[in-house]
Amino acid sequence: MSLAPTIKLNNGQHMPVLGLGTYLSTNDEGYNSTKIALDNGYRHIDTAYFYQNENEIGRAVNEKVTSGELKREEIFVVTKLWNIHHDPIHVEAACRKSLKNLGLDYIDLYLIHTPMGLEYREPEELLPKDKDGNLAFSDVDYLDTWKAMEKLVDLGLVKSIGVSNFNSEQIARILENCRIKPVTNQVECSPSLNQKKLIEFCKERNITITGYSPLTRPHSYENDKSLPKPAILDPKVEEIGRKYNKTPAQVVLRYLVEIGACPYPKSSNESRIKQNIEIFDFKLTENELRVMDSFHTGQRTVPFAACAAHKYFMLNREF
Ligand SMILES: NC(=O)c1ccc[n+]([C@@H]2O[C@H](COP(=O)([O-])OP(=O)(O)OC[C@H]3O[C@@H](n4cnc5c(N)ncnc54)[C@H](OP(=O)(O)O)[C@@H]3O)[C@@H](O)[C@H]2O)c1
Repeated sequence: MSLAPTIKLNNGQHMPVLGLGTYLSTNDEGYNSTKIALDNGYRHIDTAYFYQNENEIGRAVNEKVTSGELKREEIFVVTKLWNIHHDPIHVEAACRKSLKNLGLDYIDLYLIHTPMGLEYREPEELLPKDKDGNLAFSDVDYLDTWKAMEKLVDLGLVKSIGVSNFNSEQIARILENCRIKPVTNQVECSPSLNQKKLIEFCKERNITITGYSPLTRPHSYENDKSLPKPAILDPKVEEIGRKYNKTPAQVVLRYLVEIGACPYPKSSNESRIKQNIEIFDFKLTENELRVMDSFHTGQRTVPFAACAAHKYFMLNREF
């Protein structure tokens, strides 16, 4: 069993450099995959209020802790503030709701899921629509949301705070105005979109990059060939894997760690969950890194097309 090495965040906390993704792992799938992951060396789990599986993830985490197999402080749990809760008046309540769902008394890392707010309605709707059927945007400034996130640290509800899907300009604006720096920016990161410029930008400011859709959602590509082609389907990646007795997915995940991103591969399959963390016993050569770099096209798996008209849309600049 491998444990992922940890990285020291800008606030002194330690975070394992690879975690389990859980988007679409709902109900028993979320519980089972988290349990399998914890049994196989994962100590870092990524969920979100939006995924509606915090309950299941928390149940698996709590079982490991109450059984005495793991200590709470050995597990790094990430969840995210959803776009409808951006107004500062909702932030603490939303965090407390996530804590309740998870059954935890603190969150290791709490992220603003995207810079783009959506209208808050009662009863709550995760994706509120306007009368034309478009997403109902709110114009809450993410800077105001960030200030409310900082208070959660003061209250001891969260150990670290960060952002997700922010571009470099938005990160810079937070840094110019914050009391507590974000520890990470969680963004799409795979060989097709390797984020080297954003990684460099964030590294210079002591902010880590955590990477989602690291395998470029191979199942989605099967159904829609206009999406970026996953590098795991390429014979060159298979060939590199053969040299180390590794699968293409392991080569991709190793590559992402080597370029400075912390990937979140999602799987609900036992053998793939085990496989995805067995990447810390080999190292790619300069040549192999160059081959992996050649897959970068900049094309996104998650283009947030329905939000392109939002005031805080983040994908209209290179990084
Ligand atoms: N912050 C954000 O806005 C945001 C957005 C998207 C995702 N995320 C986070 O990032 C995580 C990962 O991203 P993702 O779920 O979009 O995509 P992903 O991890 O790139 O791809 C997941 C898919 O890859 C398959 N897979 C897993 N391991 C494999 C392997 N070794 N070989 C072949 N196929 C494999 C999985 O199938 P099986 O389950 O059948 O193994 C699943 O269908 C999410 O679950 C979520 O936690 C965050």
